[in-house]
Amino acid sequence: MGGGNCNPKDFGAAAYWDARYSSPSTGGKGGGGGGGFFDWYQSYSALRPLLRACVPASSQVLMLGCGNSLLSEDMVKDGYQNIVNIDISSVVIEQMKEKHMDFPQLTYMQLDVRDMSFFGDGSFDCIIDKGTLDAMMVSSCRLANYKSA
Ligand SMILES: C[S@@+](CC[C@H](N)C(=O)[O-])C[C@H]1O[C@@H](n2cnc3c(N)ncnc32)[C@H](O)[C@@H]1O
Repeated sequence: MGGGNCNPKDFGAAAYWDARYSSPSTGGKGGGGGGGFFDWYQSYSALRPLLRACVPASSQVLMLGCGNSLLSEDMVKDGYQNIVNIDISSVVIEQMKEKHMDFPQLTYMQLDVRDMSFFGDGSFDCIIDKGTLDAMMVSSCRLANYKSA
């Protein structure tokens, strides 16, 4: 993952992501501090064949570590009806709530994926993770390397 001059634990830290989403330089295309967007790795157009084949549009979908990706918005524009988006960063969650206030199909909540007790069993038909586990794993690997160096 590209991270610039990050310290070893940045990618797993809410403070890192809050700062990143607040910054004009890293907040995403269209401007940091709200309204910007950035899709890590792949866009909806690339993922669409797989998603349409595996996930019916009526599914209850949970999007882990949504960031300011366009994925959920593009899924709704393509017919998906209910996507709950969570992220550890309260900054990006507030930005995305405001951006999508006219999208009743999209819900945004600040939550840490390591504690999913808020949701009852069987709440979702599909859970999508694009880059979140990766960010957390990079963070813990870097931290382990840092401690052993
Ligand atoms: C690499 S970005 C991917 C963003 C988006 N899914 C995409 O594909 O563009 C990782 C995201 O995971 C979030 N994140 C990191 N650790 C998290 C955690 N423990 N719980 C929830 N979100 C987390 C970050 O705030 C960030 O928005």
